[in-house]
Amino acid sequence: MNFEEVLEQKIDKTERSIGRYLPREDGFAGKLAQAMNYAMKSGGKRLRPLILQESYETFGGCGQEAEPFMAALEMIHTHSLIHDDLPALDDDDYRRGRKATHVEYGEAFGILSGDALLNYAYEVALHSFDLTKDYSRTALALQILAAKSGLHGMLGGQSVDVDWEGRPVDKEILQGIYLKKTAALLEAAFMIGAILAGANSDQVRAMEQVGRKVGLAFQIQDDILDVTGSTQELGKPAGSDEKNRKATYVTLYGMEAALSQVKALSSQAVEILQDVSRGNDFLLQLIQWLMTRNK
Ligand code: IPE
Ligand code: IPE
Ligand code: MG
Ligand code: MG
Ligand code: MG
Repeated sequence: MNFEEVLEQKIDKTERSIGRYLPREDGFAGKLAQAMNYAMKSGGKRLRPLILQESYETFGGCGQEAEPFMAALEMIHTHSLIHDDLPALDDDDYRRGRKATHVEYGEAFGILSGDALLNYAYEVALHSFDLTKDYSRTALALQILAAKSGLHGMLGGQSVDVDWEGRPVDKEILQGIYLKKTAALLEAAFMIGAILAGANSDQVRAMEQVGRKVGLAFQIQDDILDVTGSTQELGKPAGSDEKNRKATYVTLYGMEAALSQVKALSSQAVEILQDVSRGNDFLLQLIQWLMTRNK
């Protein structure tokens, strides 16, 4: 099997795993659960849970306790996408190849389903305690999940991102935004897998660095695709950044330099990972493949 076939299989497996943790749609607040599942079931690359699982296996993890964290991380990411598309933020109507949640269910349900997914993520992640004997690893993984998602992580980044909309930002601020809004959740994916598998603190720190590089490269590539991709290919509106007068790596550095930064950051990530990955070639290949993605 070539890399893309292996990737497809692994994504299928990730998809099935996430599916086991989605909320039931009956009951008093069934419509809210429907809106949450609408966003969760609409595809997406499932990169963060996949990376979490691969990182877990890299450090010898062979139990079940990473599964709730995979679902939880994808829920937090999906929450960020639902809210990112709201009229008050990027005001985009399409996501993952179909109508954005707030368009399909109305703005109130866009807000509430995003909130509910963020909370449900922790309800789900807490199940990890039922699947492990090592409570301290699960507790540390929860700390990382919470820290990387919140004020000092993804949400903090989103706030500075919208705050600077329409104003010229300098390179330092832009990098700060990307490290938080995008890299933080990728750092969480690399770190949590390692923590649950029992990696030591040096190894976890190295995985955080890998996530930082991959995350930065990932957002720069997202900026590039916003310019070069089509709405149909991306499954979300192309040209969203220009519409919102957003400074990006492409507007600030130019296309050529943005492309070469994606390459440089990805090579740096590969280099750090090679030192700690104990021969998990899949993760190394995944990082390289990400540079060539077109959605
Ligand atoms: C989109 O993330 C938001 C960014 C952080 C750039 P993805 O590109 O991972 O979106 P999905 O999950 O595949 O839809
Ligand atoms: C968003 O960045 C990162 C998030 C935390 C959602 P973008 O606003 O560029 O993401 P897309 O392009 O809408 O997916
Ligand atoms: Mg945005
Ligand atoms: Mg957006
Ligand atoms: Mg974008």
